[in-house]
Amino acid sequence: MDTEQIKERVGSRAVDDYVTSGMKIGLGTGSTAVWAVRRLGELLAKGALKDILAVPTSSQTIMECQDLGIPLRSVNDPEVSGELDLTIDGADEVDSSLFCTKGGGGALLIEKIVAYSSKRFIIVIDENKIVSNLGLKFPVPVEVVREARVPATKAMEHLGARVEVRMALKKMGPVITDNGNIILDIRFDGPIDPMEMEQELNHIPGVVENGLFTRIKPIVLVGTTSGKVQRYTSDEIPKSE
Ligand code: A5P
Repeated sequence: MDTEQIKERVGSRAVDDYVTSGMKIGLGTGSTAVWAVRRLGELLAKGALKDILAVPTSSQTIMECQDLGIPLRSVNDPEVSGELDLTIDGADEVDSSLFCTKGGGGALLIEKIVAYSSKRFIIVIDENKIVSNLGLKFPVPVEVVREARVPATKAMEHLGARVEVRMALKKMGPVITDNGNIILDIRFDGPIDPMEMEQELNHIPGVVENGLFTRIKPIVLVGTTSGKVQRYTSDEIPKSE
């Protein structure tokens, strides 16, 4: 299977295995989570699923849901009331403790609000996302208010990070998130403690949120080239780089 087929398989599988009618669900962002959104749209259109309240995590997901006719809610709406049954989302890296890094698509702030409001968090990835240590290969994205760019950069350098402002590709200047902020992508030269780092980063003035997700234990579905989907909970994920 090629990468796109793997993403489709694992994204769809999350919906087939975990979503039932009447649920309140968070819908993630990215090229893998979008397949969960599409599968949900298909099952709602067929009538195989009903009465779903879906909360999107980004402009990308909102547009996809609008095109598929999936009715959307905010996590603040009274019917949702800040509590979701489950969220399905992708990740950029997952380690052997099932801690993960998210935000490659710039949506980490709403993704974290939605994930941390969920009873269950389902991560859908391909096997290339499994790493021994977070933040060495793929950067940890940090959403920062624009006015804090330089002091926040210095504070992160003090924590041992190499910091880069994420630049836009089809616009001059930085990426501006759905929430009007910039993203600092930070990398480390050696292993970090993800739980500690998640907290440390959020103590820096001007940091709105960071892409380390350590305070919710996900169920991780891993799509493989053979077409199989492996499921990991707690510490069962294989160690590799
Ligand atoms: C979006 O901000 C991210 O957190 C994505 O969930 C993550 O980058 C994974 O995206 P892909 O499935 O496209 O790799």
